[in-house]
Amino acid sequence: MKFHELAEENRSVRRFRETERITGQQLLTFIDASRLAPCGANLQLLRFTPVTSGENCARIFPALRWAGYLDDWNGPVEGERPSAYIIIHAPVGERGHIPVDVGIAAAYIVLAARESGYGSCMIMSFDVNMITEAAGTKEGYHPFLVIALGKPGEETVLEEADGDIRYYRDAKDRHHVPKLALREIIVPVKD
Ligand SMILES: Cc1cc2nc3c(=O)[nH]c(=O)nc-3n(C[C@H](O)[C@H](O)[C@H](O)COP(=O)(O)O)c2cc1C
Repeated sequence: MKFHELAEENRSVRRFRETERITGQQLLTFIDASRLAPCGANLQLLRFTPVTSGENCARIFPALRWAGYLDDWNGPVEGERPSAYIIIHAPVGERGHIPVDVGIAAAYIVLAARESGYGSCMIMSFDVNMITEAAGTKEGYHPFLVIALGKPGEETVLEEADGDIRYYRDAKDRHHVPKLALREIIVPVKD
């Protein structure tokens, strides 16, 4: 698949076919892609926890906050929940490059997952204590981002934003994601 096509296809997915599991080996291939990503000063400070078992996924799920713009939806119901997670840990107290490094690492993971037919959603709104309790973390690190993964169980629609960037669901339960047009994000150089 060409890169632009992959980027177009790679919408965040929040409803999955939960019974279709992802192997730990598969998650490692996504993490291995992010290992090759650029990072500030090549320090490679991030650490990753792959989670695949139903039991461990059930411990992660209650800590997550889903889709802030969808007021009448409290997250995926049983049977539609993620079948795996990757938790990205960052060193406590480190600032500077870290948020950028996490974003790049996460982008590599979700694109590698999408290329293999899996959907994902990056989740930054979560209960840190619950995630640490459920998944553990390395000494001196804290969980920075959770990536939910699974076989997509919802249809997504990419569209051009018309004044409102909030995602929404239509009458057919499809998830729409409005993106600004290219012309709206270009800042021309000064004459
Ligand atoms: C840094 C970051 C944090 C996010 N946190 C959450 C979150 O806590 N919960 C959630 O449901 N989605 C979360 N998302 C997903 C965004 O809502 C999603 O990327 C955005 O609506 C655009 O949709 P798209 O990914 O399909 O382009 C997050 C995405 C990013 C990049």
